[in-house]
Amino acid sequence: MDTERWVDLGPAEELQGKPLRQIVIERTAIALSFKDGRFSAVSGVCNHIGGPLGEGRLEGDYIVCPWHGWKFHCRTGEGEPGFEDDCIPRYATRIENDHVYVNLDPETRRNKKPHPVHPLARKVERQPGPVRIVGISTTAMDSANPRYSGSDDLLQCALDHARSAQATETRLIRLNDLKFRHCEGYYSKNARACTWPCSITQMDPSDQLDQVYEAMVHWADVVLLATPIRWGSASSLYYKMVERMNCIQNQITTHNKVLIRDKVAAFIIVGGQDNIQAVAGQMLGFFGEIGFLFPQFPYIAHSRGWTAEDMENNVEFIKTSKELREGAGSLVDRSIDLAARLIEKTAMPEALPRGGRKAHAMDGEDRGAK
Ligand code: FES
Repeated sequence: MDTERWVDLGPAEELQGKPLRQIVIERTAIALSFKDGRFSAVSGVCNHIGGPLGEGRLEGDYIVCPWHGWKFHCRTGEGEPGFEDDCIPRYATRIENDHVYVNLDPETRRNKKPHPVHPLARKVERQPGPVRIVGISTTAMDSANPRYSGSDDLLQCALDHARSAQATETRLIRLNDLKFRHCEGYYSKNARACTWPCSITQMDPSDQLDQVYEAMVHWADVVLLATPIRWGSASSLYYKMVERMNCIQNQITTHNKVLIRDKVAAFIIVGGQDNIQAVAGQMLGFFGEIGFLFPQFPYIAHSRGWTAEDMENNVEFIKTSKELREGAGSLVDRSIDLAARLIEKTAMPEALPRGGRKAHAMDGEDRGAK
């Protein structure tokens, strides 16, 4: 052997069994590949955020990182075309006495090249201006043949009230209109593999959940979320969205980085059948865990009860219920009131709502809609 840094990895015949494997020797991670009858070794640590390259897969001559798909040449360690300089160390290998040896003194050095930073990764800083409310409608429907949705209707009612009576800025996002992927469990690969911005958002420009992240983390002071009750739970689109919020919660647990500060969440829950408090409890639990605060009486809701199958009457009731429609307005008033106080607390007085703010709604009125 040339130096004591040459290390025996084991019998060549055995190591030929897998095209790619991760081997850790003396705290050095190696991605050992076997391709076209030849062993090659490069670092097993990805330049991105340290993914285990040897646990990835070979695509042609490139190792694809199992965390977020960055690619490195299995023999040279160079990054994929266009990112050749973004390279990982390469190690010499040789066969002796039918065993594979690797020299742990690398032949080349690691070089990290900056990659474009996703716009969502910018510092979270509230921009001056009036209170901003994003309404998120989570009901699912056939867009080509839309139907009436009670939760969506009350959400619009609340946003209309916010604009006319409170001089706020509003935005409406209907999850049904967005194309976005399910959470694919990056956290379950490794806590560090779940990133902010979301791994999927960074890898897939066609994924449209960036609109929700942008509104929730950067733009809005108030998130008003509307859901129908489906089988005693919030809608499936709601759950699809909140699973993708793992990246927000994970920043708190792994990086001590709180992305949601001084923001308010409130809910509109409408069902043909009951279970309102269970749905509200889940939503409060989730939004509380990622950092939102709640106004007093943080949701309004309506259902007709377990035995009610006459949905057409439910529709009529919601469309004409003064109590529910005023309840939606009260909910938004309470949310704005709290948001304004939080903004004031962080010394940005110019952000207070401009004029027209109604007096804080009375408890009795607020709760009437339940
Ligand atoms: S692509 Fe390798 S860690 Fe992200």
